Amino acid sequence: MRYAKITGTGGYLPPRIVSNDELAADMATRGIETSDAWITSRTGIRQRHIADPGVTTSTLATHAARAALDNAGMSATDIDLIIVATSTPDFIFPSTACLVQANLGVAGGAAFDVQAVCSGFVYGLATADAFIQAGRARHALVIGAEVFSGILDWNDRRTCVLFGDGAGAVVLSAADEPGILSAKLDADGSQMNILCAAGNVVRGQVTGDPFLRMDGQAVFKLAVQALTRSAHEVCDEAGVSIDQIDWMVPHQANIRILNFIGRRLHLPEEKLVVTLDKHANTSAASVPLALDVAHRDGRIKAGDLALLQGVGGGFTWGSILVRM
Ligand code: ACO
Repeated sequence: MRYAKITGTGGYLPPRIVSNDELAADMATRGIETSDAWITSRTGIRQRHIADPGVTTSTLATHAARAALDNAGMSATDIDLIIVATSTPDFIFPSTACLVQANLGVAGGAAFDVQAVCSGFVYGLATADAFIQAGRARHALVIGAEVFSGILDWNDRRTCVLFGDGAGAVVLSAADEPGILSAKLDADGSQMNILCAAGNVVRGQVTGDPFLRMDGQAVFKLAVQALTRSAHEVCDEAGVSIDQIDWMVPHQANIRILNFIGRRLHLPEEKLVVTLDKHANTSAASVPLALDVAHRDGRIKAGDLALLQGVGGGFTWGSILVRM
C-alpha cells in the first residue's frame, strides 16, 4: 500500500502589517466607522499582512514553496506535482501553479490550480494525496496563496476588516506508512450567494461585482454545522476518536467560529491552533500557514494527529486527518 506523508511545511507573509487601529484610521478618512474594539471582539483579528501593489499571489506562493522545500530537505527538481489553491490568481490563465513552477526553475510534472476559496488548501491536499496513492506522483507541493486585498471593497466594513494576504505550503511525499489517514470534501452550490465575488471579464471589461460579498451570519451557521459533522466523518473513516486528536488546524475565519466548533467537539482550547489574531483570514493560505507556524514553533511534532479543516465560498468545506 502506498501512502502520502507531509515531509515539510513553509509559509510567507508580506512584510507590511496593518493593525486594526491603522485600518480604522484609514477608513475614518473615508467616513467609515470601525474600531479595534469592534473587530477584536467580533472576530479575534488584531492585524493583517497586506501585499504591496504589484506583489502577486505567485510571488507569495513561491516564497512559501521554497520554505517548505527547505524544511523537507528537498530541491524543486524532486517535485512532480504542484497544486496551488487560490481565488486570487495572477491571471485568468496560465494557472498560478505554472507560474510557481517557472519561478522554481523546473519543468515537467503536473501543475494546476484548485478553486475552492477558503477550502482550497484542503481540496488541494486531498487531490495530491489521491495522486500519490494512485502512483501518479511521488513528491507534491501543495500551496494555498492569496492576495485577497485585491478583491476587497475597502468601503465595506462588514468584509474588508476580516481578510489578509499570505501563502502557506506543504511538501507531500509518497511513504510506506500514513500520513493522510482520511479526507472528506463537500460542497453545496445552492449556497453560492452567501459568500461570493460574482464578477467576470467579458470582452476586456469587468462585468458584475468584482468584490467579495458575504452574509456573515449565514456563513457562521453553515461553517459551524458543516465542520462539526465533517470532523466526525473523517474520524469515523480513520477509526479514531475525536479525543485522540492532538491538534486542530482550522481555517482561520473567526475566533468565535473556531471556539464554537471546538466546544461542540469537546476539544480543549489548547489543542486549537490560532493564527487569525496576527494573519486575519488569508482564505486558502490560512490552514497551511497555521500548520507551518505550529510545526516550526515545535507544538506539532512527528507522530502527532492533526485535524485540518477548510470552509468557504461555494459553499465548500472539508476535513483531513493527518499523522505528522
Ligand atoms: N466595524 C463596526 N461595525 C460593524 C463592522 C465593522 N467592521 N462590520 C459590521 N458592523 C456593524 C453592522 O453595520 C451592524 O450595524 P447595524 O446593525 O447598525 O447595521 C452591526 O455591526 C452588526 O452587524 P452584523 O453583520 O450583524 O455583525 P455580526 O455580529 O454578525 O458580526 C461577522 C459580523 C463578524 C462577519 C460575523 O457575522 C461572523 O463572524 N460571521 C462569520 C463569517 C466569517 O467569519 N467570514 C469570514 C470569511 S468566510 C470564510 O472564511 C469561511
